Parts: sequence; C-alpha cells; structure tokens
Amino acid sequence: MSGQSDPLFLLDSEMLAHKADDDDAAADDRVKRQLARELHDQVVQDLTAMLIDLENFKRAPFDSQTTVMQVDSVQGSLRTMLGRLRGMLYGLRGEDAWEPEFGENLRVFAVHHAARTGVQVLIRVSRDWPEPIRRPAALHLFRIVHEAVNNARQHGGARSVRVSLRLTERGFARITIQDDGSGLPADDDEGLSRSGMGMLGMRERALLLGGTLHVESATGRGTTVRVVFPQAVLTAPGDAGPPAPAGP
Ligand SMILES: Nc1ncnc2c1ncn2[C@@H]1O[C@H](COP(=O)(O)OP(=O)(O)O)[C@@H](O)[C@H]1O
Ligand SMILES: [Mg+2]
Repeated sequence: MSGQSDPLFLLDSEMLAHKADDDDAAADDRVKRQLARELHDQVVQDLTAMLIDLENFKRAPFDSQTTVMQVDSVQGSLRTMLGRLRGMLYGLRGEDAWEPEFGENLRVFAVHHAARTGVQVLIRVSRDWPEPIRRPAALHLFRIVHEAVNNARQHGGARSVRVSLRLTERGFARITIQDDGSGLPADDDEGLSRSGMGMLGMRERALLLGGTLHVESATGRGTTVRVVFPQAVLTAPGDAGPPAPAGP
C-alpha cells in the first residue's frame, strides 16, 4: 500500500478536491461576503469601540488605578477578539472538522500494513476514548502512529507492533506504539542522534498537541514510543494545546 491509501491521507485529498470544486466565482463571492460579515460583526465593531474608549480615556483625568483598570479592559477586549479570530481561522482552515472513526481508521491502516509488510499491527482503543475527535489532532496522531509503525519494521526489524489509545488520570490521553524489534542502537537511546526526520517530526507533532513524546528501548527487547497529551485537544477546537480563553 502506498501512503495514498492511508484513510486520513484520503481525507486530505478530499479537502483539496473540494477546494477545486469551489473554484467557481459564485462560491468565491459567497465566501467573501460571509468573511466580510464575520469580520465586521466580530472584529471591526469591537476595535472601533476600543479606539473610542481609549480616546475618551486620554481626555479624562486619570490616576494609576484608573489606568490599570483601563488597560485591564483593553486586554480583556483584545483577548475576546483574538479568540473570535482564532475561531474564524479554524473554520477557514477546516480545523473545526471532526474525525468520526479514528480507531477504525487505525484498524484499516493496520490491516493494509500487515498485508503489505507481513508485520502484524494490533490496535487497542480503550472504551472511554472519545469518538469523534478533532481532525487536526487526528492527523497528528495518525502521522505519529504511522511513523512509529514504519520505524519498527524499517529500523527494528519488528514482527509485530501494539498500538494502544487510552485516557489517563488528570485529563491526559496516552498513545503507545510498542514493537518487538531489535531496539534502538545502544548509543542512541532516544533515536535522535541518527539522521532522519521521523523522530523529530513525531516530537514536533506531540508538542503541537501540547504534549510530550518519549522513546524507551532496550537492545533486543523492542522499542516503545509513548505520547502523552491533554485530552482536551481531542475534543476542543484547534491544534495548539488548550483553546483560547473565552469571554472578556
Ligand atoms: N522502532 C525502532 N527500532 C529500532 N530503531 C529505531 C526505531 N525507531 C527509530 N529507530 C532509530 O532511530 C533513528 C531515527 O529514526 P527516524 O528519525 O525515524 O529516521 P528515519 O527517517 O531514517 O526513519 C533510526 O535511524 C534508527 O536508528
Ligand atoms: Mg523513520
């Protein structure tokens, strides 16, 4: 199987196809009008109000307490606006989309991978794992699993890989990818000193999820990649950790 038959890869190309369909002028106009309306209602009006407030503030007599209050209020308005702009960007970039069957997508990948390489991939999803999850989180997690499973065969010569998805205490989620291969080379216990962007990319994706990635390995006893991140990114909007603060 090529990368093209990964279920989540297909989602990417589906999105691109929609973009191409949208090429006609009427659709463009509709999007522009909607964008103008949103910008007006959610951003321009509040910015204008803030400018007027600041103008009045300059004229009024002020002591340090009123200054602090005024700055507080400006900060509050800016936070609200930033939150709204983020919300609009998520919408524009399709990041408000949901991935309805992440566990099932991984199982499909596992079946294809086994058929192609002969390496068994066992997927275990805990019962409390949420479904659906946010698409940006799904894409990062899928790419991490994909890279770790490929590394298991390519570098470790693994025969089987276990992938488990579960929620842990205190609001965290954990994905582990454990192989029965040769383990990392003894002089490279985090897999970082060799060339190759795979490990680096996995770590970056874990960071983008607001989490961390650890690699554990003992020569001859396989390798375990463990990603821990806040559960909130599975169901809250955006891919950069916790959602923007709400309200003024
Ligand atoms: N599952 C694994 N088993 C054994 N060695 C591994 C495993 N994963 C990574 N490595 C080691 O870490 C190095 C870096 O991996 P990676 O960044 O994915 O590079 P590449 O792009 O070459 O796959 C590999 O060259 C290999 O030495
Ligand atoms: Mg790799």
